[in-house]
Amino acid sequence: MAKLARFGVSLSEDLLVPFDDLCRRKSYTNRSEAIRDLIRQALIRDEWKKQSGELAGTLTLVYDHHSHDLARRLMDIQHDHYGVVVTSMHVHLDHHNCLEVLVLRGDAEAVSSLADRLIACNGVKHGVFVPTTTGKDLA
Ligand code: NI
Repeated sequence: MAKLARFGVSLSEDLLVPFDDLCRRKSYTNRSEAIRDLIRQALIRDEWKKQSGELAGTLTLVYDHHSHDLARRLMDIQHDHYGVVVTSMHVHLDHHNCLEVLVLRGDAEAVSSLADRLIACNGVKHGVFVPTTTGKDLA
């Protein structure tokens, strides 16, 4: 068994309280196991980046369009990669929040890096990329 390592995490109460609530609802006995699962998810997702060839997937973003310059930055990035963005849908959730769903298709590395760039934009409240297959190589 690998040696156990410990590290500290700093985060605001605004994030910790709902995270603890999530841990309880998902029956985690402690934060460490929940964080281990989150790390595993990130590592599995990163594995997709190592795939070659054509990939398709959906990217879901939730953000406040009043957040400083965010809507324009997200649009600029999409225009920079117009060949990868097949289509997008924008829903005004309320006066502030927007939900955007993008269908991405192209070289695996290009699709993954575009998704990462959009998710990492400061002000994006939630972003998740769900990779799938083009179906060409599946029976
Ligand atoms: Ni909107």
